Amino acid sequence: MGEEPIVLSDGVVTLRAFEPDDAPAVLGACQDPLIARFVPIPQPYTAQTARGFVARRRADWDGETERSFAITDALTGELLGAIARHRRAEHRAELGYWLAPWARGRGVATRALRLVRDWSFETTGLVRLELFTHPDNEASGRVALRAGFYREGVRRGWDLDREGRPEDDVFYALLRDDARAPGP
Ligand SMILES: CC(C)(COP(=O)(O)OP(=O)(O)OC[C@H]1O[C@@H](n2cnc3c(N)ncnc32)[C@H](O)[C@@H]1OP(=O)(O)O)[C@@H](O)C(=O)NCCC(=O)NCCS
Repeated sequence: MGEEPIVLSDGVVTLRAFEPDDAPAVLGACQDPLIARFVPIPQPYTAQTARGFVARRRADWDGETERSFAITDALTGELLGAIARHRRAEHRAELGYWLAPWARGRGVATRALRLVRDWSFETTGLVRLELFTHPDNEASGRVALRAGFYREGVRRGWDLDREGRPEDDVFYALLRDDARAPGP
């Protein structure tokens, strides 16, 4: 069963469901080579791709397993990025995110991950939240650690790159009962 999209905010970033009007900003953000390198987005990324993305991410709320948010500036409403939670099992979900180039270097991704982390543990029975990054994606690994996730190690050949070659990924996870208090 789906649910009405909800809004999460810490006063600096606001997470809300995607809207059709977000497509132009998504299109602009997803021209960025860093997103294309570390997130399996279509290439080339066209206006139609962006419209399809925002429609699908909005429709996530009609189902059980996917929950996704536009990351926006809490004061101006500007679109800053995206964050999604993919439920892989009753107790386990995977998180993914990207920021537009203009939104990096000021803690936005960490804030978004903390909001989804807390909301997930408060409102579901999820026991384990996990995410994985390319070994070269140090920025994303730092985001995970700042949000209280533990680095678990490397899974070899976990993914395939765009040419179909196996590539390793670094796994980070946070369990509901982890002793270490999650970040502020
Ligand atoms: C991964 C990605 C989201 C990280 O973005 P980011 O801007 O580094 O992450 P944050 O928004 O948490 O900002 C953290 C940086 O801002 C700085 N910062 C400033 N104020 C801060 C605050 N209040 N809290 C936390 N960090 C703050 C930190 O020092 C940090 O810089 P550092 O990484 O040089 O130490 C971004 O690089 C990205 O979109 N990459 C392409 C897509 C991608 O890789 N997605 C993840 C796939 S696994």
